[in-house]
Amino acid sequence: MLRKISILIFALSIAASSSYAASPRPVCARHAMVVSAESLATNVGLSVLKSGGNAVDAAVATALALGVTEGYSSGLGGGCFILIRMATGETVAIDGRETAPMKATRDMYIPRDSLAPTDLSQTGVLAAGVPGELAALDLALKRFGRLPLTEVIKGAVALADTGFPISRFYWERLEFNKEKLSRFPGTRSVFFTSDTTVLQWGERLIQKDLAATMRAIEKAGVDTFYSGPIPQMIVDYVASEGGILTLQDFENYRPHAREPIHGNYHGYEILSMPPPSSGGIHLVEILNIIEEIGIGYLGAGSAGATHAIAEAMSRAFADRAVYLGDPDFSTIPIEGLTSKAYASELRAGIHRWEHVNPFGAGVPPGWMPDTTDGHTTHLCVLDEDGNAVSLTATINTGFGSGVVVPGVGIILNNEMDDFVTNPGMPNYFGLVGAEANEIKPGKRPLSSMAPTIVLQNSKPYLVVGSPGGPRIITTVLQVIVNVVDHNMHLQEAVDFPRMHHQWLPDRLFLERGFPIDAIADLQRRGHKIAYGGLWSGATAILSDTTTGMVFGSTDSRMEGAALGY
Ligand code: GLY
Repeated sequence: MLRKISILIFALSIAASSSYAASPRPVCARHAMVVSAESLATNVGLSVLKSGGNAVDAAVATALALGVTEGYSSGLGGGCFILIRMATGETVAIDGRETAPMKATRDMYIPRDSLAPTDLSQTGVLAAGVPGELAALDLALKRFGRLPLTEVIKGAVALADTGFPISRFYWERLEFNKEKLSRFPGTRSVFFTSDTTVLQWGERLIQKDLAATMRAIEKAGVDTFYSGPIPQMIVDYVASEGGILTLQDFENYRPHAREPIHGNYHGYEILSMPPPSSGGIHLVEILNIIEEIGIGYLGAGSAGATHAIAEAMSRAFADRAVYLGDPDFSTIPIEGLTSKAYASELRAGIHRWEHVNPFGAGVPPGWMPDTTDGHTTHLCVLDEDGNAVSLTATINTGFGSGVVVPGVGIILNNEMDDFVTNPGMPNYFGLVGAEANEIKPGKRPLSSMAPTIVLQNSKPYLVVGSPGGPRIITTVLQVIVNVVDHNMHLQEAVDFPRMHHQWLPDRLFLERGFPIDAIADLQRRGHKIAYGGLWSGATAILSDTTTGMVFGSTDSRMEGAALGY
């Protein structure tokens, strides 16, 4: 009898502490937390917090460091979105998205004499938009930070100057992108030890030109990156390689402070990124559709929950292809897309047992997304005053355009590929689009980045984001659903096998780990399954208001770190 009771107590205590099997516990701290996709950068952020900086100072320092230690994903040559929620309640979404150069044209990537698509929107100088990351970080720091740029940039400068050992993850990205990187002399001089050999795992990556550029910024301020000799060097090199960026493009670049997207889900308030990202709108749209479906009751990873979420995702991505673009160039029906009424209409069209893609889906022959590459990065910070920052930064695909600008050391983005570069043709991520996202001079390409903050009783509860192109939206969504509907602890919520549907191609992507019987059931409902692959990489912070503890998790799929005090 005693044995039976103790087994029962044991079983109940397991059930109470964790709803799912083996997963490491999240990192736990009493006051504050920094989480990023790379541990040296997380350390930089933590030391800024400990030396009196607030969440914004730490986020800026971490983002600058990530541009050095995880340069294949983000950096000064790219862009970012920053969602800030200050303890005062002030909330802003800072848009540091790249812009199309003024000489860009709608058809610039459509080959004139051949039907074969080119890779010019993905590789080489023509793929680059005007970089916006630094201007956005500066705006965030000036409006909300406590420390000057000279303080928060120091950690990144040191990492570029004295270097750091290449991690296995970094080395894998180098190997994967070797052919692209080998085409550009400036890139070869940083990453190659011979014509055909890249730096190996454990060897030191030193980036002297990048360190010198950051020192110039430290000394003379951010304007030095947007006017004068540094951008002149960039545009001269770009012109010598047949590119179209001009000094005026740099001088005219401005970050924007925008109103975040607002939604609510089971009583939690959702704040996320507005256009030119599609992230916030479609995150809220999908949450609205699934809110009344009883996802928690159906169970995580069940065929029923997966089917319902996939149907909601495909409808949201169909909308993305038609309505979304740069809000400064077209009118986007934000309120309609994020309304509960529209969600009910879409939900009514979802069949319980049968997958029906919204309309006429075509799958480009042989297309399969390249999920082994790494690209884009995310960091979260929550400080002891309750200020929260969720920041996603990118140079687009792994190592962006592949071009390191000689003498400047930055890796140029290939964000132009996020526009509709060739109507009807999917981009790198398999996404299609319409007029709202066609190329125009000065316009920002549509993004999926979704830095998000979930509030409970008006206070930050969950700070979350991810890399992964369109999988950003669906990853952030699933972390929220895993916490809110499935009661998972933060690390489980981040690590749980994921799913993704983006309307076109009509495929339900399931990560390794999805139960075979759920897959068989989903196939019976008409889903075309694509299985496997490396999958985005969430970083998240959860503030438990009942215990006052702060939890941090990086994705077990990646090699980031969560550190707090
Ligand atoms: N470059 C990927 C995105 O912004 O969605």
